[in-house]
Formats: sequence, structure tokens, C-alpha cells
Amino acid sequence: MTLSIDFTNMMAGALPDGLGITETEWRGSRSAFAAAHAAVDAQRANLGFLTLPADEAALDATLAVVARTRGRFDDVLLLGIGGSALGPIALRTALRPLAWNTLDLAARDGHPRLHVLDNVDPATILTILSRLALDRTLVLVVSKSGGTVETMAQYLIVRDALARAVGEDAAREHLVFVTDPEVGALRRIARAEGIPTLDIPQNVGGRFSVLSPVGMLPAALMGIDVKALMAGAADMTARAASDDPAHNPAGAFAVLQWLADTRHGRHVQVLMPYADPLRDIALWFVQLWAESLGKTRKDGTFTGPTPLAALGATDQHSQVQLFMEGPRDKTVTFITVRGREAEGRIPSRHADIPELAYIGGHTLGALLDVERRATAGALAARGRFNANIELDAVDAWHVGALLQMFALATAYAGALYGINAFDQPGVEMGKNFAYAMLGKPGSEAARAAWDALPHPDARHRV
Ligand code: PA5
Repeated sequence: MTLSIDFTNMMAGALPDGLGITETEWRGSRSAFAAAHAAVDAQRANLGFLTLPADEAALDATLAVVARTRGRFDDVLLLGIGGSALGPIALRTALRPLAWNTLDLAARDGHPRLHVLDNVDPATILTILSRLALDRTLVLVVSKSGGTVETMAQYLIVRDALARAVGEDAAREHLVFVTDPEVGALRRIARAEGIPTLDIPQNVGGRFSVLSPVGMLPAALMGIDVKALMAGAADMTARAASDDPAHNPAGAFAVLQWLADTRHGRHVQVLMPYADPLRDIALWFVQLWAESLGKTRKDGTFTGPTPLAALGATDQHSQVQLFMEGPRDKTVTFITVRGREAEGRIPSRHADIPELAYIGGHTLGALLDVERRATAGALAARGRFNANIELDAVDAWHVGALLQMFALATAYAGALYGINAFDQPGVEMGKNFAYAMLGKPGSEAARAAWDALPHPDARHRV
């Protein structure tokens, strides 16, 4: 079981025109990384994601909920947004068979479907509700703060629908809250009504919470091997003991992206799996990288590479044109799975048609691999930085390792950029304006600030 990163095509030797990270920069980054590593270590007590893989009590509590609910529900409906939703979606896509929710019970091995309401679009929510048999649905309300407006709106709608479907008393049997152990509206409701609740440790932030019950509860309900996930994450955490990026994959990823951004103008950082099951991990990564690293420093300077999700080979017919010939402001990190050469033999047919004849006899796995290598080589030939994260398999162990690698890399990158990767002050102003417009008590100042802003001008509408 291995996860490794090949970063040859980030380096000067592999790129033309003097482009690429030099060996001197790479070796010279060692002291910067050692300092970042020490800074992350010094914050350990606040960085609960570091110890989640070893938190057996949390996993046991999660598995106890799974055991209690086994066989009672055909559907799990997860209410949440941002870090409370993207991890569960990524785990379902990566570790359950394709189109999980369309499979019958036997194909799902008796496990429920998972629906995630990661938005408040009425069309989606009302459609999903109209399709669910609520008497056979378990509702997970997932919110670290326990008061996020989107999640609370989802909750109010779904709780009402549950009460109508099964009655007020029985509705409680269909609910599990995943939230802060002490504070927040969800915690208060849980206490008042005796609703089963799992804790998100106070020192685990939303986007770093996938290995807490936020991700582990829906994963375990769907029958994913959560112990293997944790083992993979624990292995990555152990590798992160090294303060030498050459021996710490999360450190290497953070340092290379940071050097590429700050020294080489590669401000856009693309994550491009060549494996369909990993496509939603790229979206999870985008939130993690963007919300953690996009910051204004105390001195007024701005920081933050822009993450972008892509999918190989699909995006070779889309975004790769931009990556190849657009501004040289990007890195592309592929994720590939080793040993797929035997998968999906392509039949030899139309031997007389040259455009098809050469394809027959290869496999889809080999085609995907060749296409990735060809794209990487072409990008490098044009001076485009790229790297490849290689996994032995898409299984729970490797996904756990991958998720923990990105979480660690984000923490290191925060330290390298000299910012706090664990807050998100930039989303507050918009939230406060929304609260003001919805009439939330205590929003008077935000209302005044909102009213003072320029509002749509009829001259500027076409
Ligand atoms: O990473 C974060 O902190 C955010 O993206 C949150 O996950 C998101 O805002 C949802 O917050 P909460 O879990 O408190 O409802």
C-alpha cells in the first residue's frame, strides 16, 4: 500500500526555457518547511484533525450509531454544507460502486442510499423530499457551528416533513445530529429533545472534519471500511512526522505548490484525477485549499493560490487547452491509480479502418494511463508545471491517506504563506448581510452597512 508523488515535471531539469523549480530552491525550502512543520506542531492542541485517525472512541461511538440503525433505513439524508457535505459526497463517489443511489438493496449489500443536501435550492430539496419514503429515512444533520443558515433551513423543512410523515415523536428516531460537543442551536435541541448526537471535536474545523463523524458516520452507514480509512490516514500522519519534505508527501505537496505560486507565478493549482471515483475528492480539495489559503494578511497583502478541479481524460477535451496554451500561471497535479493495465480490454474490430485498428487490443486502463502520461509530457514540454500523485488502488486505505495528506499539506501551506489556514473571516460579511435581510436578531449594524452599499442601478442593466 503506497501513495507517492512524482514531481519531476515541477523541476527545472524537466521543463524548457529555464522554467521550473530549481534544485537550489527545492533544497533551500527545507528550512522554510522545517519552520512550517514546527509551527503546525506547536498548534497541535488546536488541530484536532491530526489526531482523528487515532480517535478510537469517536469511531466506536460512530459505529454504535450505525449498529443501532442497521436494517431500519433504506435512505440516509444528510443535511449540511461546505465542509459538512463535501467530504461525505467525496467518500460516496470514491468508495461506493458507481451510481450507488440507483442500485437495489442487494447490490448495496443491505446498506442505505446517501443523499446530501449541500445547498438550499428549492428545486433540489423539494424533489428529493418528494422521492424519499421518510418512514424509512435516517436524517443526519451535520453542522459544526450548529447554526449555519442553509443547514438550519434544510433541517426545519425536513423535520417538518418527517413529523408529517411519521408523527412528532417518531420523527426523533429518524434524526442524528453531528455537531459541536457543547455549543450551538443543534446541541441545544439535542439536549432538550434527547436526539442522538455525535461530536465534532471543538478543535476540528468544518473543512478538516472528513475523518470525524462528519464523514465517518455516512461512510460507515454505506458500508465503507472506516477502519481502513483511518489506517491510511494514520499512515500519512506518521509519514508527516518528518520535517524534511523529501520524506513527507504532505510537506512536499505544500512546498512545491508554494514555491510554484510565490516564486514562479503559478497561482492556479489544478487537481486532476485520472480516475472517476476520485472526481469529488478534487472538489473537496478545492474547498479545503481555497477557504484555508485565500486570506488577507495583517499587513494588508493578499495570499492564496486558486484551486481548480479537473478530470482526466475528460478535461483533455476541455480545460487542457487552457492549461497548455493559456497563461503559464498553473500547476497541474494528477492523481493516478497504478496497475490498471489489465482492465477493460478493447476488442479488435474494423481492422481495415486505421483510425480504429490501432486501438483494439489495448485496455481502457492502459489508454487512461497513456493519455495521462502524454498530457503530462506535453504540458512539461510547454513549460507547464505538473506532478503526479500515485495510488496503488482506490480503496479506503488509500483514500484515507490521500485526504489526510491534503489536510496536512493545507496546514503546512498556511504556515508557509504566514496566514491562519483555519479561519474564514472572508465569508462573514456576506453571511451577516444575509442575516440582516432575513431579520436575524442582532443584525442591525449589518443592515445599516447593507443599506449604505450601492444598489442595482437601472442604467447598468441590459
Ligand atoms: O470549513 C468550514 O469551516 C466551512 O466550510 C464550514 O464547513 C461550512 O461553513 C459549514 O459550517 P457548519 O459545519 O458550521 O455548518
